[in-house]
Amino acid sequence: MHLPDYREARTRDKRKYNRVHFSLDQNIEKKYVGKTYFVKTYGCQMNEHDSENICAMLEALGFSKATRYVDADLVLLNTCSIRENAHNKAFGMLGRLKHLKGEKKDLLIGLCGCMAQEKSVVDEILKDYKFVDFVFGTHNLYQLPTIIDRAVEEQKQQIEVFSREGDLVEGYPVIRSNSYKAFVNIIYGCDKFCTYCIVPYTRGRERSRKKEDILKEVEMLIQDGYKEVTLLGQNVNAYGKDLYEDYNMGDLLEDIAKLEIPRIRFMTSHPWDFTDKMIEVIGKYPNIMPSVHLPVQSGSSRILKLMGRRYTRESYLELFHKIKETVPGVCISTDIIVGFPGETEEDFQETLSLVEECRYDNAFTFIFSKREGTPACRLEDQTPLEEKEERLQRLNDVVNQYFLENNKKLEGTTLKVLVEGTSLKKNMYYGYSETNKLINFTSEKELFCGDIVDVEIESAKTWSLDGKCV
Ligand code: SAH
Ligand code: SF4
Ligand code: F3S
Repeated sequence: MHLPDYREARTRDKRKYNRVHFSLDQNIEKKYVGKTYFVKTYGCQMNEHDSENICAMLEALGFSKATRYVDADLVLLNTCSIRENAHNKAFGMLGRLKHLKGEKKDLLIGLCGCMAQEKSVVDEILKDYKFVDFVFGTHNLYQLPTIIDRAVEEQKQQIEVFSREGDLVEGYPVIRSNSYKAFVNIIYGCDKFCTYCIVPYTRGRERSRKKEDILKEVEMLIQDGYKEVTLLGQNVNAYGKDLYEDYNMGDLLEDIAKLEIPRIRFMTSHPWDFTDKMIEVIGKYPNIMPSVHLPVQSGSSRILKLMGRRYTRESYLELFHKIKETVPGVCISTDIIVGFPGETEEDFQETLSLVEECRYDNAFTFIFSKREGTPACRLEDQTPLEEKEERLQRLNDVVNQYFLENNKKLEGTTLKVLVEGTSLKKNMYYGYSETNKLINFTSEKELFCGDIVDVEIESAKTWSLDGKCV
């Protein structure tokens, strides 16, 4: 048994780690043929991609996929700790699973992902959730097959959570949930320690994959007919810093762009590490999508400082405008937190005025959520929840207005769309534009998922556009 410890999770040093290749114990390969699994994923794309590896490991053990959790022999929750509601959702699901286990004694229940890295969660599971068969942390992903097998063989709860990263594992098996769009990890962890955020504790320090491994993965995806890759990391712009003297995100983007995959995206970009070289490369290569997610969090330099974001309102705006000016037709989206401890009405007004200047194409807005163990959790917070909710509403009214205004400007233009699916209505399809806008459209000729087609935009809504294939 290994239990999580935040003090250890917080440490950052240049401790060496190895790069190892995933291997499955031959003795348990296909041992569970005939059994079924269901994986429920919460949180970010990184978790979604981890679940693609999880499904492949489970299938290597012999499990096959169930379409409903109530029918499965094994249910695994891949959890997220980012805000309290993500937490509550996972615990709500555990409640339903407890009930199900009352009826199905052999049901195996597991929990993994970021919540497994939290001491308070593991303590609660040890105390009140004895029916959970196994828990493993984000640094223990490669142990999934042996942990499950031990839970079955020993009939005893297994808790395996390393507080710190171990080896960097390459060569995980993967079952991708999409056959034309793929996630590719480029960097794990986060060293930024924004004062509100739990990720540096749950995902460990920044560790880049080797460029050769990334390029090889993208080449194989191209061979398999993939049309789009999304390069993943909590802060992709820090790519390479821990590994190379002079090879960074700008160089990696350029090398991937030369591989001639039609669409490259990346997420998430921290404004601090966004270099001029990156901006230049994004502007230069047509297959790097002109779509940048640039979380601002707040428009007040005072709050940004308390958040530990390492930039000011002014330096953010300078970067924002440089990207807008250099990358033709770029759309920029953001994340904003309202109600950070000590945020006054004046601070909030600064966020509103920044939004008015940036006129974002998309924005994810949140109320500050206290995360145990983070510095912001200890800050005095006098703003009542109702006031925070009201700020969120006012912010959403403004951001939504700009989504619609930006979309309206696209009426009458023709956009390239990657077809992702058909709707129930005849001849109706949907897909995403280069700037990541959802497009619903009609087509006279039959289209297939993964096609890239021209769509003339006829009308704009706040969150989508309607058009016809030309
Ligand atoms: N690495 C990314 C963010 C990943 S988390 C970045 O720094 O850009 C996604 C978003 O969740 C953050 O951008 C932030 O807006 C929000 N978030 C993170 N911690 C939060 C908290 N404690 N309360 C509310 N929102 C939070
Ligand atoms: Fe969290 Fe900040 Fe790291 Fe993003 S950059 S994951 S917000 S600590
Ligand atoms: Fe959530 Fe962990 Fe991602 S906290 S947002 S699943 S890195």
